[in-house]
This record gives sequence, structure tokens and C-alpha cells, in this order.
Amino acid sequence: MRIEIIDHPLVAHKLTLLRDENTPSAVFRQLVDELVTLLAYEATHDARVQEITIQTPLTETTGVKLAEPRPIVVPILRAGLGMLEGMSKLLPSAEIGFLGLKRDEETLQAITYANRLPDDLSGRQCYVLDPMLATGATLIDSVNYLLERGARDVTCVCLLGAPEGLRNLEKAIGNRANVTIFMAALDDHLNEKGYIVPGLGDAGDRLYG
Ligand code: PRP
Repeated sequence: MRIEIIDHPLVAHKLTLLRDENTPSAVFRQLVDELVTLLAYEATHDARVQEITIQTPLTETTGVKLAEPRPIVVPILRAGLGMLEGMSKLLPSAEIGFLGLKRDEETLQAITYANRLPDDLSGRQCYVLDPMLATGATLIDSVNYLLERGARDVTCVCLLGAPEGLRNLEKAIGNRANVTIFMAALDDHLNEKGYIVPGLGDAGDRLYG
């Protein structure tokens, strides 16, 4: 598993605003959208392309287009939905799959309530969107759903992560696939309720509550 933390002044600036408890929902949604576009630019660095020939007004030349089969973007409901538009701006031709998982706030286990993924993901580049990687339970189940369907190339785009969650994810996924996590920041720790500290609170509530 590869972990990439994006070190960029605009990412840090927007993330600071996002963390601020005084940032209202409408601004929070806008900031998530902007941040995802910046992260997505980095996360798509390894997007597969194929060479094509085109005609400019002056001459024939070669260029590239996204390779087939096209990539799939999977937002994890609810909070991941807030990241979909930012990602789709960069990958407008990607298919969209949906996963709905809710963390049980007592046990911190993830409960799946929606799974709309294509049956066969072999050969597809998969981009998973979820703002928070706390204990990692949600992302572990989500990545497993993709691997069960044959995916071997999974990129997760998160805003914030905790070291505990990254460790759990690494242990659970092992070397079964090429999994990369892109995030805007790796925070300090999880508190006794499983919240990322310093964090930004509950991303789903701040987006949609
Ligand atoms: C939050 C967050 C992640 C998950 C992370 O979702 O958006 O999906 O928790 O926690 P974990 O790493 O410990 O599994 P939540 O369950 O609050 O659902 P929501 O997105 O619908 O608000």
C-alpha cells in the first residue's frame, strides 16, 4: 500500500478553513469541492492513457486519451458524495459506482447499506472517495468490495486520515492489490470516540447536516 500526503500551500490553506468550526455548511461544501480537485489532480497521476492520432488545423499529430476500460469513481455515501463533483470534473468519462456505509458509533464497525458496483472490475482503475479515514473500517470494507469484483488497482482519495486507520488498512489489504491512499493531511490520533484529532468533526454532518 502506498500513502501519499499532498504537500501544497493551497491544500493546507483550504484544509485549515475546513477544520475551522466556524466555517458554515455552504462554504464547507465549496471547500471540499476545491480540495478534491487539487487532490484528484495528484491522484490521477497514474491514470492509464492510450496513444491516438488527431488532426490539428495544421497537421496530423499524436496525443493520448484515457485508456479502455474506463475508470470507475466510487463515492462512499454519505460524505464521499461531497467529493464526487470535484473528481468528476477531472474524470468526466468515468463510470460512477456507489457504496453506502455507516459507522456504528458504539462498536466503530462499518455497516453496508448500499452496494451498486459493476460485477466485473477486472482491469479497471478504481477511485474511492471518502473524506475521513478514521479507524479504517469503512475503507477496508469498501476496498474489499472492489477486490472481490476483480479490481487490482485502487486509489483512495481522502481529506484526512489517522495513523491508526492507515495501519489497520495496511494490515487488512496487505499485498493483494495495488492500493494507494492520497490525502490532504495525516492527523495526530483518534480520540476515545474514534474521531480524528485535530480533525474537522463529522464530515457528513458538516456537509449535509
Ligand atoms: C464517516 C466518514 C467515513 C467513516 C470513517 O462516515 O465519512 O466514511 O466515518 O470512519 P472509519 O474509518 O472509522 O470507518 P459516517 O459513518 O459518519 O457516515 P456518513 O458519511 O453518512 O456521515
